[in-house]
Amino acid sequence: MKNNICSTTFQVVSKLLIISIIVSCKSPEKVKLEQFYVNGQELYEQNCANCHQKDGSGFKDLYPPIAGSDFLKNKEAVICIIRNGASGEMTVNGKVYNQQMPANAQLYDLDIAAITTYIYNKWGNESAITETDSVKKVLQRCGK
Ligand code: HEC
Repeated sequence: MKNNICSTTFQVVSKLLIISIIVSCKSPEKVKLEQFYVNGQELYEQNCANCHQKDGSGFKDLYPPIAGSDFLKNKEAVICIIRNGASGEMTVNGKVYNQQMPANAQLYDLDIAAITTYIYNKWGNESAITETDSVKKVLQRCGK
């Protein structure tokens, strides 16, 4: 009986040790990817899901889908659209859309990198980070 508290403490400590070993075994790159993904998901749900829906399926004839969208082939255009918005006719998966998507001047380059990472890992068959630096470079090219 006397040993009980000791052995319980030992069990707790050894569990914590095992958990911390597992956590620390993840590569820094993997941890960063997860941070971008989680952060990007939150930003997507706040800023984009109203129109494109939480599951990325879009909304009727008004808002094109992001899940399975052939537009994702052009990542530069996606990054530019997130910052600057879009208007006029746009064809997605062979279907023509013509509504306005608002600009997002309030999003930092880091936010756009996180959202892009989320979109491409969730719906674009990628498992990689879209880095803030490359977003910055693309945004310089598309102006505003
Ligand atoms: C007010 C509704 C609205 C919001 C909010 C919105 N979009 Fe859009 N989005 C649109 C519309 C409309 C288009 C098509 C534009 C056109 O017809 O020219 C579009 C097009 C796109 C496209 C290219 C086509 C496709 O579906 O692949 C992407 C990618 C996209 N939006 C991502 C986003 C992201 C990411 C956010 C959040 C930062 C966002 N949108 C917020 C309405 C919206």
